[in-house]
Amino acid sequence: METILSGIRSTGNLHLGNYFGAVKNFVKMQHENNCYFFIADYHSLTTHPTPEDLHNNVRKVLAEYLASGLDPEAATLYVQSDVPEIPELYLLLNMNSYIGELERTTTFKDKIRTQPDNVNAGLLTYPVLMAADILIHNATKVPVGKDQEQNLEMARKFAKRFNHMYQVDYFNEPVAYNFGENLVKIPGLDGDGKMGKSTGNGIYLVDDPKNIRKKVMKAKTDAGPTEMNQTKPEVIQNLFTIMDVVSASDTVSHFNDKYNGCEIRYGDLKKQLAEDIIAFTSPIRERILDIEKNDEYLRTVVKMGAEKARASAAKTLKDVREIIGFKPF
Ligand code: TYM
Repeated sequence: METILSGIRSTGNLHLGNYFGAVKNFVKMQHENNCYFFIADYHSLTTHPTPEDLHNNVRKVLAEYLASGLDPEAATLYVQSDVPEIPELYLLLNMNSYIGELERTTTFKDKIRTQPDNVNAGLLTYPVLMAADILIHNATKVPVGKDQEQNLEMARKFAKRFNHMYQVDYFNEPVAYNFGENLVKIPGLDGDGKMGKSTGNGIYLVDDPKNIRKKVMKAKTDAGPTEMNQTKPEVIQNLFTIMDVVSASDTVSHFNDKYNGCEIRYGDLKKQLAEDIIAFTSPIRERILDIEKNDEYLRTVVKMGAEKARASAAKTLKDVREIIGFKPF
């Protein structure tokens, strides 16, 4: 039995990238393993949300997690800020992480570019908080998308460093996980880059069919293939990558054959893709709308999750404090 942990920042609705990168695999594993799934609301503070947005986003993501199939009885589903042991471990790990290595992380460099007016210390130490999230339950596997690979590498580094510094074999070295396959990167519909919450290029689990059709029909394409079996340019490959995860394999083969034979009509491909996305998201969307109305249920889930998460976190923190040398008088 593995200890598996996954998390999502509460900065907006869940999109297909989040679902296929982090949620789907987790849902599959939750009944056979010791699973933790949490909403990273401290991490969301790096972008300075208003108090209303902070709370509403946590609520949204919680409902979306549940609607995606997370079972709060089987897994521990909790909100990061309900577990004060996490920021304490974060503080302790910060003492063993170095400015140079934090400045060199790709995500930090990206943030300097995307939010130059708000390069706060929380952004710099983002990987340390993420390591604390993982190490607080001593997780071994972390289902994430490709974009989190480097953060996982940092978490391993901090775990190893702690063990080495105190000559213990306490923390596991957690690995990014996707069922032995490559980590996934679901592309956006705007031609380049990954589907993201802040880039406005996403299809959200809660989007209604009309909106999904509109977004897909607007996706970038090109003038069409000119040679048989040519390599697909990125904008076209992106549509096929999304099709790979939502459509039946004979649908994908059909359009691949059309592309390879230079007979593809992108309008047909997009129509099919939109319908397949709708078929996939509709049941989830209906559950989201239902669960969102149920305050009592959300309250019960969060309370139960906080209790379970704190019990595990308190145990780790007690050990860590002892290892570091904090002693009662
Ligand atoms: P976040 O909120 O940006 O994304 C949540 C999860 O979704 C995955 N993801 C994607 N996967 C494939 N294709 C995409 N286009 C795509 N977009 C997002 C991400 O890889 C991630 O797995 N730092 C994390 C949250 C976090 C966390 C953690 C995750 C905080 N602490 C501890 C795991 C363990 C983040 O910002 O993810």
